[in-house]
Amino acid sequence: MSFELVFFGGTGDLTWRKLMPALFQAWRHGKLPREGRILAVARDDWDDVRYRAWLQERLQEAESAKRPTADEFEQFAQQIHYLRMDLSIAADYDKLKGWLNQRQVDTTVMYLATSPHLFPTICQQLGASGLNHDKIRVVLEKPLGHDLASAQTINRAVGSVFTEQQALRIDHYLGKPSVQNLMALRFGNILFEPLWRRESIANIQITLAESLGVGTRGDFYDRTGALRDMIQNHALQLLTMVAMEPPPSADADAIRDEKLKVLKSLKPFDAHSVARDVVRGQYRHGVIDGQAVKGYQEEDKVPMGSHTETFVALRCEVQNWRWAGVPFYLRTGKRMADRHAEIVVNFRPTPHPIFPGAHAPNKLVIKLQPDDGLELHLLAAKGAISSVMSQPEPETLSSVSLDLDFDKAFPTDRVGAYERMLLDALAGRLNLFVRSDEQEQAWRWVEPILDAWRHDSQSLRPYAAGTWGPPAASALVARDGFARAEEG
Ligand code: BG6
Repeated sequence: MSFELVFFGGTGDLTWRKLMPALFQAWRHGKLPREGRILAVARDDWDDVRYRAWLQERLQEAESAKRPTADEFEQFAQQIHYLRMDLSIAADYDKLKGWLNQRQVDTTVMYLATSPHLFPTICQQLGASGLNHDKIRVVLEKPLGHDLASAQTINRAVGSVFTEQQALRIDHYLGKPSVQNLMALRFGNILFEPLWRRESIANIQITLAESLGVGTRGDFYDRTGALRDMIQNHALQLLTMVAMEPPPSADADAIRDEKLKVLKSLKPFDAHSVARDVVRGQYRHGVIDGQAVKGYQEEDKVPMGSHTETFVALRCEVQNWRWAGVPFYLRTGKRMADRHAEIVVNFRPTPHPIFPGAHAPNKLVIKLQPDDGLELHLLAAKGAISSVMSQPEPETLSSVSLDLDFDKAFPTDRVGAYERMLLDALAGRLNLFVRSDEQEQAWRWVEPILDAWRHDSQSLRPYAAGTWGPPAASALVARDGFARAEEG
C-alpha cells in the first residue's frame, strides 16, 4: 500500500513525543508500508535534512528499548520529508498540493497535530485547494473544543469540507491493547455477558492516575483542567466500552451507535448532584518516588491563585435496564502516588455464604497502565487441613487471581496505542475513532459540571502530590458502602 501521511504541527510536542516514535515502532515492526511518505509541515525554514537531524535528536529522548539506532534512523528517515507552510496562507496549500501531486497513492492522511483553534482554517484551506477528495482522510487530535459550542463550531467547519467517514477523531485510550481486549472479552466469549449487568455487578471504577505533573504544558493545562483533559474524552470513552450493549456487528458505526446510546443514558448532572457527586482537587507540593515535587501553582506558566483542577473524581449512573442503580466511579489526577490506569469491575457477593470468614467478592481488573492485562480475582480452597485431630471444620477460602499477561501470550504482536491508531487511520479502519455525535454528547454531559464550578470557587480541594487525591474522593465511594480500587 502506498500512502502520504502529513503532520500539521510537524515540530510540535505531540509529533515528536508520540507520533514519530509510534511511526518508528511501526516501521521497526515491519508494519509501516515502505512505499509511504511522511511529511512534517511547520513554519520553520527547514529542509528534509535539517528536519531529520532535529528529529533524530528528539527521538533519543525515548526510552532506550524504543530508541532508533543510527542505522535504523537512517533507513526510517528516508520516508520522512519536510515542508515549510504558513497555515493561514492559501498559496502554501498549493505548495502542499504540488508536493502531493508528485505521485499517485492509495491513501492520504492529514493529521492535525496543531492547536485546535487552527482546525477550521486548515480544513477550509484544504477544501479550497481540492485536498478533500475521497482518498483523503483527516485525523483530529484532542482537545476538540473547550465546550459543546466550540466543539460544534469545529465539527461544522470540518463537516463542510470532509464527510464523517473522512474525519477521524482520535482518542488514544481506545488504542490501548487492554481496551481491545475488553471488547474481545465481552463480545468474543460467552462467559461474561450473562454476568455483565446490575444483577451481578456491584460497581465499576475507572481510574486514570498519573504521577507526572503538568510539565511544560502549564498554560494549556491551566485553560483546560482535568475534566476537559481526561474525563470528557478518555474516561467517558472507556465507560462506553464497558457499558455498551453488544453491537450487531464489528462495523465502526455499529459500535459507535452503541457507545452513543451509553452517553445518552448517563444521568445528567445539576448543581445539586455536582456538589454531592463530583470532587475536584489541585495538587500541592509533595514527594513522589522519594523526590520532592512542586505544587501546581508553582509550575511553569501556571498563574498563582489558579482554580484549575488537576484531579476529578465523580460518581455517575447509566440509566438503562442493564445498569440501573450501579454506580460508575471515574477518577483521574496528576501527581498521584503512581502511574496507574485500570478499569475494575466489582461483582456482588455470593447470595448465600457457606464458607467461613469474610471474603472479597469477585472482581475483574482491566489493567491499562503501566502494564496491560486482565486479572480475574476468584476465591479458591487452599486444600490444606490444619490437623487430623481437630474437629471437622469447613474449608476456608483464599483469594487468587487468574492473570492474563498479553505480553507473554502474544509476545510479537503487541502495538502501542498511537502506533495502532496511526496504522488504523492509514488503513481506513474507523472502529477506534470517535464520531462527532459521541464527542458532542460527551460535552453535553460534562457542561453542567463546568457551569456549577464556574459559580463556586470553594469546592477545589488541595491534595499533596504523591497521594491518591483529596479524601473526599474516597468518601464518594465509601458513602455507597464500597472501597476505592487502589485501597480495596
Ligand atoms: C492526554 C492528556 O490526552 O493523555 C495528557 O492531554 C495526559 O494530560 C495523557 O498526560 C495521558 O496519556 P497516557 O497514554 O500517557 O496515559
